Amino acid sequence: MTPQTQPAPTSPTRVSSFVDRQVAYDRMFEPFTGPLLDAAQLSPGQRVLDIGCGAGTTTLLAADRVTPRGLAIGVDVDADAIRRGRDRARGARRHHASFMLADAEVHRFQRSAAGAVISRFGTLHFADPEAAFENLRRATKPGGRLAMLCAQALDDNLWARLPLRVLQQIAPDAGAMALSRAAQGGPFTLAKPDRLRHVVEAGDWGHVKLAPLSARLWVGEDVEATLAFFDASDGPRLRLALGDAYRAFREALAEALSPYVAEDGVRLPGAVWLATGVNRG
Ligand SMILES: C[S@@+](CC[C@H](N)C(=O)[O-])C[C@H]1O[C@@H](n2cnc3c(N)ncnc32)[C@H](O)[C@@H]1O
Repeated sequence: MTPQTQPAPTSPTRVSSFVDRQVAYDRMFEPFTGPLLDAAQLSPGQRVLDIGCGAGTTTLLAADRVTPRGLAIGVDVDADAIRRGRDRARGARRHHASFMLADAEVHRFQRSAAGAVISRFGTLHFADPEAAFENLRRATKPGGRLAMLCAQALDDNLWARLPLRVLQQIAPDAGAMALSRAAQGGPFTLAKPDRLRHVVEAGDWGHVKLAPLSARLWVGEDVEATLAFFDASDGPRLRLALGDAYRAFREALAEALSPYVAEDGVRLPGAVWLATGVNRG
């Protein structure tokens, strides 16, 4: 897959495939996950909502920080993701994690019940983000914190940009189309800092801060595994679009990846906003 086209949340197939590759994604986004949880300032006894929780990795980590007596609630619109989260919580005996199938944009959460709202790339696809962030604020207590990760621009995320760059070389038309689609969609919907700040502040969150974080993100054990990772979602579509040129694309991508082979696998630069806010009550 080219990660820039990861989980369109309205597409159950895509979301499920995201869930299936959860282990790889967790490793990929691990450099940003600790800072996200730290920014939420979770403490024992708190109730925390994890919006767009996917398979629940951050929900389980948050549960460890609010136990005992607290509760981490993963919220997702995708039933597969919620099932996976519940299974993992049961398997890991995380009794302080629970999962809720709901559209966080409009769901009527218990008012002022949560001490914090967290999200790792799960708040990027709201139809009406201003209203959605207001809905989330209403679910938090006065003083409750919002902490979420949103990708910075495509050009600052080589893990997503590199396959497109290669595609542009091999098939300029297909590459240009894929580039313009990727720059606005997928994880990049709130990449512009002014827009991101605006939608959060429109939800009446105060003290909004956007901290830029960057890291070399692990995308595979080696070049072959990385190609398979890219292939998993965009392979079929690209094969269809490129025909015989698909082989040349794959070879060129392998070559483009080779300078990024690190000791523990392939690592490509990535950059996110860690956005935080406080419910002023
Ligand atoms: C990029 S995935 C991130 C999953 C998870 N946070 C992680 O980092 O592993 C985005 C998730 O947000 C969920 N999502 C998108 N819109 C949502 C909404 N309105 N309400 C609840 N979940 C939503 C999707 O179903 C998907 O599981």
